[in-house]
Amino acid sequence: MIREIYFFLRHGPATMKRKREMGAVEFKKYLAKKMDADGFAELRFNLVGDLEGDILEIGAGTGATFTYYGKKANVTAIEPDDEYRRAALEEVPNAKAGIKVISGTGENLPFDDSSFDAVSASTVLCSVMSLSKTLEEFKRVLRPGGKIRLLEHVCSEHWFAGPAMDLFNPIWRQINQSGCNCNRRTVEEVKKAGFLIQSLGKYKIYSKAVPAAFPLRLIKGER
Ligand SMILES: C[S@@+](CC[C@H](N)C(=O)[O-])C[C@H]1O[C@@H](n2cnc3c(N)ncnc32)[C@H](O)[C@@H]1O
Repeated sequence: MIREIYFFLRHGPATMKRKREMGAVEFKKYLAKKMDADGFAELRFNLVGDLEGDILEIGAGTGATFTYYGKKANVTAIEPDDEYRRAALEEVPNAKAGIKVISGTGENLPFDDSSFDAVSASTVLCSVMSLSKTLEEFKRVLRPGGKIRLLEHVCSEHWFAGPAMDLFNPIWRQINQSGCNCNRRTVEEVKKAGFLIQSLGKYKIYSKAVPAAFPLRLIKGER
């Protein structure tokens, strides 16, 4: 935990300065590119590279995950922010998969029950207004046996770091100004929602561009 705090204090101010100088879209693209170069790209590929059929991606942002889908994926990506959605659309021609980008939120998916073979999200469930409602929606739109693929930063399971992250969360929300929470118990919530977790990868990335080295979890599960 000492290392994470030091890393945040050491590199955070430069990131904040960059955020002020760049527009939201350019900043988001910059962060995704830097994170990918520092190890996130491999995790994105692990997250979605083998998915086939009808896939729903939630909170696509600027489309940073699009190029990691294989050509047998038929992706519907939803993103609530207009500017990010426009940037995501520009990424579509670079992808091997067929991708359409539409407006929407995880809590209220504009799709019929049992419409998708898989649902994916990367660093989104930290920001949704209601995690339980979003997971309920994932379950509704997935076909029986459908896959859930999540790459999310979560609250530490450590006896001291976990409660410390709860205390830090209001400050973190002030810093990020984008509704991101650092203390979501996402793995527990996924189980509580009734998904069967098949594998759980644990990672941590120290990236100077995104100096919040929160615990990362790659969750692969099934409805
Ligand atoms: C940290 S960004 C991640 C973007 C992208 N998934 C990536 O890996 O680069 C979080 C994204 O979630 C979106 N988001 C926030 N609340 C959401 C919600 N309730 N439903 C769906 N997406 C949401 C934001 O607009 C933003 O694009």
